[in-house]
Amino acid sequence: MNPELIIVTPEHRPHIALIQINRPKELNALNLQVMGEIRDALKELDANENVRVIVLTGNERAFAAGADIKQMAGKDAVDMLLIDQFSTWDQIRKTKKPIIAAVSGFALGGGCELCMTCDMIVASETAQFGQPEIKIGVMPGAGGTQRLPRAIGKAKAMELVLTGKFMSATDAYNAGLVNRVVPPDSYLEEALRLAAEIAQQSPIAVQLAKESVLKAFEMPLQEALSFERKNFYMLFATQDQKEGMAAFVEKRKPEFKGR
Ligand code: CAA
Repeated sequence: MNPELIIVTPEHRPHIALIQINRPKELNALNLQVMGEIRDALKELDANENVRVIVLTGNERAFAAGADIKQMAGKDAVDMLLIDQFSTWDQIRKTKKPIIAAVSGFALGGGCELCMTCDMIVASETAQFGQPEIKIGVMPGAGGTQRLPRAIGKAKAMELVLTGKFMSATDAYNAGLVNRVVPPDSYLEEALRLAAEIAQQSPIAVQLAKESVLKAFEMPLQEALSFERKNFYMLFATQDQKEGMAAFVEKRKPEFKGR
């Protein structure tokens, strides 16, 4: 099925895929269809051997202004449980390739949670982050109460979640939520540049390194260290390890094949 509310370009740049959320009139509000399309696109791109890094973006005004309030407004708890709308989000977490969010404008509620579920965030100076669900009588439901404190600490996260106020791009950078803040006309280019830097590395090493970093948030330290160590040893089974180390010794640039 062709997506209708996102635009997917598998080879936007060599080895870099681009997904653009395209519901501009609704400020890219994340209804069930958008999230289903993002899930399907990520699954396909993760299985596509030509793709090494995925960039996810919105438009200048909004990365995404949250889950679709109009779609949720009339639902009761049983509807929500049966629809289980956040289960589509599991695919983002499961994606093995790095995902960089290129954020301009609003990244609110589910939009903030979506970019935090990505691996890195490049923000325009216009970006505004926040979890304003409290203002509509609910709370974050797609990871906001967990990922935000891990990213910016308990005190700042608590304030954002309990007041619903927004955080500027500069404050988000200073708090450690985003990787870099750039002028509005270059946020996507900067995200693609970062993606290109990662795409030059061995894709298997990138995948195992990403997996290991994520374990820092999911496992006790001893288990995570052991997980990391095994991934490190496993990389010695790859041609890319032989190539990378030989290239260093021979003082040349490595050519990684993803094998
Ligand atoms: N859901 C559905 N529609 C939305 C939306 C959302 N989250 N955010 C914006 N829209 C729609 C507006 O209803 C409006 O549509 P109409 O023109 O048909 O009225 C259109 O997008 C433009 O929005 P505004 O006119 O409100 O634009 P603005 O510039 O005045 O304000 C804004 C921008 C501050 C982002 C404001 O739209 C806003 O507060 N949006 C809601 C933000 C929010 O509460 N997000 C959390 C949602 S709940 C959630 O995400 C749960 C979770 O954990 C996953």
